[in-house]
Amino acid sequence: MNLKKEFIDYFVKNGHVEIPSAPLIPENDPSVLFNTAGMQPLIPYLMGKAHPLGKRLCDYQKCVRLTDLDSIGDKTHHTFFEMLGNWSLGDYFKKESINYSFEFLTKVLNISIERLAVTVFEGNGDIPRDEVSASIWESLGIKKERIAYLGVEDNFWIAGETGPCGGDTEIFYFRSNEEIPEVFDPKDNRWVEIWNNVFMEFNKDENGKITELPQKNVDTGMGLERVVAVLEDKTDNYETSIWKEIIAKIEEISGKPYKGNEVSMRIIADHIRTAVFISADNAGIKPSNTDQGYILRRLIRRAIRHAKKLGIDTNTDWMEGIALEVIKKYEDYYEEIKNNQKVVLEVLKNEGIKFNRTLEKGLKEFDKLLKNIKGNTIDKDLAFKLYDTYGFPIELTEEMAKEKGLKVDTLGFKEKFKAHQELSRTSSQGKFKGGLASQGIIETKYHTATHLLNAALKVVVGPNVHQKGSNITSERMRFDFSCDHKLTEEEKRQTEELVNKWIIDDIPVTMETMPKEEAVSSGAEAMFIEKYADIVNVYSIGDVSKEICGGPHVKRTGELGKFKIIKEEASSAGVRRIKAILE
Ligand code: SER
Repeated sequence: MNLKKEFIDYFVKNGHVEIPSAPLIPENDPSVLFNTAGMQPLIPYLMGKAHPLGKRLCDYQKCVRLTDLDSIGDKTHHTFFEMLGNWSLGDYFKKESINYSFEFLTKVLNISIERLAVTVFEGNGDIPRDEVSASIWESLGIKKERIAYLGVEDNFWIAGETGPCGGDTEIFYFRSNEEIPEVFDPKDNRWVEIWNNVFMEFNKDENGKITELPQKNVDTGMGLERVVAVLEDKTDNYETSIWKEIIAKIEEISGKPYKGNEVSMRIIADHIRTAVFISADNAGIKPSNTDQGYILRRLIRRAIRHAKKLGIDTNTDWMEGIALEVIKKYEDYYEEIKNNQKVVLEVLKNEGIKFNRTLEKGLKEFDKLLKNIKGNTIDKDLAFKLYDTYGFPIELTEEMAKEKGLKVDTLGFKEKFKAHQELSRTSSQGKFKGGLASQGIIETKYHTATHLLNAALKVVVGPNVHQKGSNITSERMRFDFSCDHKLTEEEKRQTEELVNKWIIDDIPVTMETMPKEEAVSSGAEAMFIEKYADIVNVYSIGDVSKEICGGPHVKRTGELGKFKIIKEEASSAGVRRIKAILE
């Protein structure tokens, strides 16, 4: 069974519109490194903005969650996963939502009702106990003993600290061959959560204050990997059809069977799959020592270390075969996986070569230490040496230490690392302030300024300038664009002047919704056209600029203040980067 297809077909049949998976690396949202849930790109619409495709949506969304990084190696955790989701944006609420989930599970997937149990929100001082959901479940045939009421910790959902939120009802499946207990105990881990229906009717602000949203929404998320394991009756996710070819490839390359080598094989499989998705994203992430690039580096290097444990010759291009299996599995669903295959393979190969140069020496250094160590803690100087000289991410050193029953002075390492960073002035402080969830006035202004800068560069530098990326914090905007030369002082001055002229002209900013083709043929600019849904929002700033964009934007350019370029530098080959502020 093709679960993604069954899911989308079912919800489309029930009046939902399929939306494309948002990119794994969120655009214009510096508050998170990766998309962690299907609802994340929908936050503005959950808050009340009209979605161009209507009030009932569904999709499958690429997600990366790093909270589980240490658990990778067990049977059920993954750093990357796909989330199936359906949404009501101020349309249906609890009754229909629960009905849809129940029907999909029991009628489409043919899951026996005997194996299902649910939790509902027990309420707190502000929000009443959710008897409504409980009685809907009962009316569908879920017995009282299989309905558990839980508190804020378990049954109130919010992405991070602020934003749209609400009580939820979670659906569990009894994943064991043992006898199914009559009474559902959510702490009994033979019951696994498979689907979460959040009733998003509130907003939580920065002060923790909860207010009602202008509309009552439903946000659901179902973990694809888990449900596939359920359908295929496996207790080890890595034994399902999702991983079959990938694990087989690792067995082939290492010449070892999965049985007996599960932990390393699962880590390699999981980490290479995630590395493929991160490096395939159009944001162009490369392994580095900060942000997403550091996560990518950590994943690849940890996979390499485990490959070495399995006896794989890591001096070869061993990752390629595994990555190709991953690509084969997903290329029909995600365009960037198909289009950026070459980039992905290059990233893996180059990072492999880089780490291999020092890996052997680093491992020797580590062994030497094991012989001489007094006490049971690896001190900060050695941890730093392993990082700085041999390229061992601190987490890798920690893992290796743990295998030998040792600890690492990670705190000391971090202090040393910070001192070193400040010394080389590479600190990227302030990066994670702001963000989409708190899209404030200043971020909105920078959004509009980004469009003006894009338009000004086309006038001053030439029509071949195209946006390659952008990033906004409450302190500044960053704009990457195609250009074959360093901007001259004169070009920078003219660009700045033009943007400021348009600001003084106080031009109105308007928005229209139209089919994507119409937008493109009317000359609207778009960064990655294939990524947008069929119906798009087009923002125009007088005759100056016309772009496909999710917004938000100011009403008139006069609101922006004074625009100033603070830096112009190379970003990558053929791409320049401007940092600018509004004063
Ligand atoms: N946002 C909820 C979750 O991630 C439901 O989609 O579980």
